[in-house]
Amino acid sequence: MKPMIRNNICMNCHPGGCAAFVRSWIGRMAETAPSLASAAIAADRTPPKAVLVLGGSTGYGLASRVAAAWGFGASTVSVSFERVPDEKRPGTPGWYDTEAFDREAAAAGLVARSFNADAFADSTRETVIACAKELHLAFDLVVYSLASPVRIDPKTGTMYRSVLKPLGKPYSGINVDVWTGSLSTATIEPATPTEAEGTVKVMGGEDWRLWIDALRDASVLAKGAATVAYSYIGPEHSWPLYRSGTIGAAKEHLERTAAAIRASLSPLGGSAWVSVNKALVTRASSVIPIIPLYVSALYKVMKERGVHEDCLDQIVRLYRDRLYAAPPVPTDAAGRIRLDDLEMREDVQAETTRRLRAVDASNSGALIDLDGFRADFLQAHGFEVPGVDYSAD
Ligand SMILES: NC(=O)c1ccc[n+]([C@@H]2O[C@H](COP(=O)([O-])OP(=O)(O)OC[C@H]3O[C@@H](n4cnc5c(N)ncnc54)[C@H](O)[C@@H]3O)[C@@H](O)[C@H]2O)c1
Repeated sequence: MKPMIRNNICMNCHPGGCAAFVRSWIGRMAETAPSLASAAIAADRTPPKAVLVLGGSTGYGLASRVAAAWGFGASTVSVSFERVPDEKRPGTPGWYDTEAFDREAAAAGLVARSFNADAFADSTRETVIACAKELHLAFDLVVYSLASPVRIDPKTGTMYRSVLKPLGKPYSGINVDVWTGSLSTATIEPATPTEAEGTVKVMGGEDWRLWIDALRDASVLAKGAATVAYSYIGPEHSWPLYRSGTIGAAKEHLERTAAAIRASLSPLGGSAWVSVNKALVTRASSVIPIIPLYVSALYKVMKERGVHEDCLDQIVRLYRDRLYAAPPVPTDAAGRIRLDDLEMREDVQAETTRRLRAVDASNSGALIDLDGFRADFLQAHGFEVPGVDYSAD
């Protein structure tokens, strides 16, 4: 099997490769788990016993699930929305990642339940609550890691779409075709008011709040439960497209929602956090225009300086050095957890910006990490995973 790539989207995936990819993350936890447990003990923090991950099949959500299960021995419940394989087409990678996770968890004696369902639907909340009651789980950590192009509002039935566009005026930037290395200028037209509103409905905090309220009202949240949702800020030169654009407005809504959730969890002694994570190649982020050039330059600089991290490294650091470290949880002035601290380090940003200004078709191989970008993208689809026989039937 070979990857079938059209317009930067990988149309297929390799089931065995997806499973091997998940196993590689689980394998890495063997080394890391003792540091997670000992950090929690040293900080006098109780590690999570039952973790719900919304968007737990790929990317940051899968990393959150793997680190909770193999780092703390937690029972995990995941909701994700993946294409189920049929006779004509394979499923999406998260389908096979989840199968692999469940299989490995069962072999390791870990409790794991996975639901392939629309997380935005009230019926999915009811299913998860029923599952928690059946398994006698009280979630002490709820990770909100959804990245979706659409959401149907469960109250009105209206479908909203999210778009990644600037607000107010067009944005032009340099796009790299990561498969050929060719560079071109791309212009993205500003979002319409409907698109801007839709993006906040899909990627803002409304659904996160509905989840936490439903779990709290059903008494399936543990005393002192924490919830965390993931956000991104990035360097100032990307703000016209990202942070000051449609997705940034949704992320600001998500960040404001954390404060509201924190207040609603206070009777339980609970907490709500937004964690600003590093830019990484995932299925969601790889389709964003213009950003791949920045990510490729960033990868090269961070790898050269020995500070590159992937989703799993980031989440291990989230658990070990932030959520389950000695209180208080370290945050920026706006109360956000910052896992993008290494990405945003002054020397890393200065060198990344220098390369973005200098790059052209002749030097892209030396200045930016297109190989690293491609490898992460392919591995997220089960390709180029070490140890997999891709010539097998
Ligand atoms: N990738 C990055 O560079 C980056 C950086 C910082 C923050 N983030 C944030 O992290 C979060 C996760 O993004 P990712 O990059 O890991 O993406 P991803 O595409 O790897 O994961 C998205 C997850 O959402 C699930 N999902 C989508 N629609 C769903 C639905 N309707 N119901 C149930 N599940 C659904 C998918 O099945 C998958 O599990 C997002 O909020 C994103 O903005 C990403």
